[in-house]
Amino acid sequence: MLKLSWAVCLGALSLLPSVVYAAGCAGLSGSASGNDPFWMNNSGLTSLSKSVYKSGYKVFRNVKTDYGAVGNGVAGMYDTAAINRAISDGGRCGQGCVSSTITPAIIFFPPGKYRVTAPIIPFYYTTLVGDYNNKPMLVADANFNGIAVIDADPYIPGQVNPDGSGVNWWTNQNNFFRSIRNFVIDVTAMPPDAYGTGIHWQVGQATSLNNIDFKMSSASGTRHQGIFMENGSGGFMSDLTFNGGAFGMWLSNQQFTIRNVKITNAVSAIYQLWNWGFTWQNIQISNCQVGFDLSTGGLTLATQSAGGVLIIDSKISSTGIGIRMTSSQPKTLGGSIVLDNVAFSNIKTANIQDASGTSHCRAPGFSGSGGGDDGVACYPGAPPSPPHDATGEP
Ligand SMILES: *[C@@H]1O[C@H](CO)[C@@H](O)[C@H](O)[C@H]1NC(C)=O
Ligand SMILES: *[C@@H]1O[C@H](CO)[C@@H](O)[C@H](O)[C@H]1NC(C)=O
Repeated sequence: MLKLSWAVCLGALSLLPSVVYAAGCAGLSGSASGNDPFWMNNSGLTSLSKSVYKSGYKVFRNVKTDYGAVGNGVAGMYDTAAINRAISDGGRCGQGCVSSTITPAIIFFPPGKYRVTAPIIPFYYTTLVGDYNNKPMLVADANFNGIAVIDADPYIPGQVNPDGSGVNWWTNQNNFFRSIRNFVIDVTAMPPDAYGTGIHWQVGQATSLNNIDFKMSSASGTRHQGIFMENGSGGFMSDLTFNGGAFGMWLSNQQFTIRNVKITNAVSAIYQLWNWGFTWQNIQISNCQVGFDLSTGGLTLATQSAGGVLIIDSKISSTGIGIRMTSSQPKTLGGSIVLDNVAFSNIKTANIQDASGTSHCRAPGFSGSGGGDDGVACYPGAPPSPPHDATGEP
């Protein structure tokens, strides 16, 4: 049995700048084996986590033992308030604060079912961590009211910029130092025609989402979505699953690297209104109407808004259209999509379809009938042999 020493604890917490985080895990000793509780489920961490900038400031906060969240699936308003208190406690960087690196917080969620009635708002420099061994569930109440179960950049109601756009708590490209890991987020109790959304993730760099399962309605006409991200300058995501919804991931941002994602039963698995450059690896899409939905903007280089997409070691299966795009621009990389080791199987209409309805990328086994296949083969020569598996290994 693998034994990990508490040095792991020191190592992980030292992700925070050492000048801010002065305690380490000095009071803990011992080792853990595979069946032991997740190491963060230890209320002793709270008293150990101190800031050298603010006396009494706690970096580590346990939503149950420190703030009284119940996590029994029913205490909705109470749990929402307790979680938001765990986040905001100690004079942190919330609305009106441009940015701060001296008030970080790790908010730990022990296992449980936390019913949420209004958005959980992670302040600047917040990490939300669930118990890795038994992921806590954040369950949107049927009457949930707000943009998303977790809202990383709230809009200020009633305020607009001169150009008519919304005003956020933080500037989207400057919304740094955030992560969320080890959760199940379930919006299926909300009516399918409500915009039930898991995470509003309008963030900049040093941000990540890891190991999160999103559950949405797959009723016809569903408006649910896993992640909604309209702009920003990210970022990294990995090990995410999405089931149901109008959109698994609705992602517009300058750039992101995203790997190990499984999306099933969504209308559009991935939708992009705009981007500069996205890298995707090991994306598994099945039983959706559209896989990558990049069909946005105009048809000229100047007006086309989504493009610059690299997809590696991925598979799209049992789906209507694999990739829907605007058009590639002659002689530029505008609107370019690079596919490296991407398998299409049981695609109904087109592996890749452009705005004119023409389908491209006639892969071996393509049996689509839509849109006048232009005969461009995905594999100009023989298909790679042996093909890589989903992890990229031959
Ligand atoms: C987490 O810690 C609490 C005490 O703080 C304990 O009651 C609970 O059983 C622990 N749960 C797990 C899953 O380790
Ligand atoms: C980000 O997108 C939202 C929604 O489209 C918009 O209101 C806001 O103005 C955008 N922000 C910037 C800086 O472009």
